[in-house]
Amino acid sequence: MKTKQTIAIIGASGNMGSAIARSLAGGNYRLLLYSTHKEKTAVVLQSIHTANPNAEAESLECSTQASWEADIIILAVPYAAEKEVAEKIREVANQKIVISISNPLNETYTGLVTAPGSSAGEELQQLLPHSKVVKAFNTTYAADFAIPIIDGKQVDGFIAGNDEEALQTVKHIVATAGFNPVIAGDLSVSRTLESMQSLLISLTIKNGYNWHAGWKLLHN
Ligand SMILES: NC(=O)c1ccc[n+]([C@@H]2O[C@H](COP(=O)([O-])OP(=O)(O)OC[C@H]3O[C@@H](n4cnc5c(N)ncnc54)[C@H](OP(=O)(O)O)[C@@H]3O)[C@@H](O)[C@H]2O)c1
Repeated sequence: MKTKQTIAIIGASGNMGSAIARSLAGGNYRLLLYSTHKEKTAVVLQSIHTANPNAEAESLECSTQASWEADIIILAVPYAAEKEVAEKIREVANQKIVISISNPLNETYTGLVTAPGSSAGEELQQLLPHSKVVKAFNTTYAADFAIPIIDGKQVDGFIAGNDEEALQTVKHIVATAGFNPVIAGDLSVSRTLESMQSLLISLTIKNGYNWHAGWKLLHN
């Protein structure tokens, strides 16, 4: 059996952080949960242990400590908080996989605030130059994690990154969460993935979809 990997989830009390934590709790991972309000993290932890009594999950009171202990770090915080979090974890995230899930949306959810020719994923790589940043989970809504099947089809989970081994590791994480993993390209493909989610959000609002929607690539 493969060695159990440790995943730190920074922002574990949020919609996405808690959904990711719950969905990975049944996998062969040790989970370290952190968010700024530890009482909210405690609620998530309790729900994990209720659903999966054997889950190896605990909450830590410091993002640096959680990241130091982890093999893989998931930043489940708002785009605007990523710089601050990156500064706290930079030294302990050396050579580790850091998963960027953010969508850098503007205040009206009508577009992205990142400069043309860039993306939140690439910005995070610049903030963490010695880490292996991989884009994943940004094209899936938090509600999709509970049921990653829509209209009878398994929702795709798109992944982008520059390091082949890191991509394979994240592919396994995305599959464990219940999605069909699709490696879409190098980290610059984050631009497309973040635009895809901006489009899905616009269409969800415009057409009144519920928030259980997602992307599926159809092919023969
Ligand atoms: N919601 C979705 O369906 C969805 C889908 C795809 C991608 N995303 C992306 O996922 C990320 C999280 O979204 P969300 O909807 O889960 O947001 P959310 O519910 O507001 O959760 C944000 C989390 O980040 C934590 N946080 C905020 N500021 C922080 C800081 N400065 N340092 C450390 N932790 C901080 C919060 O902790 P406290 O609660 O303790 O303050 C909370 O745990 C965003 O980047 C978003 O673009 C969201």
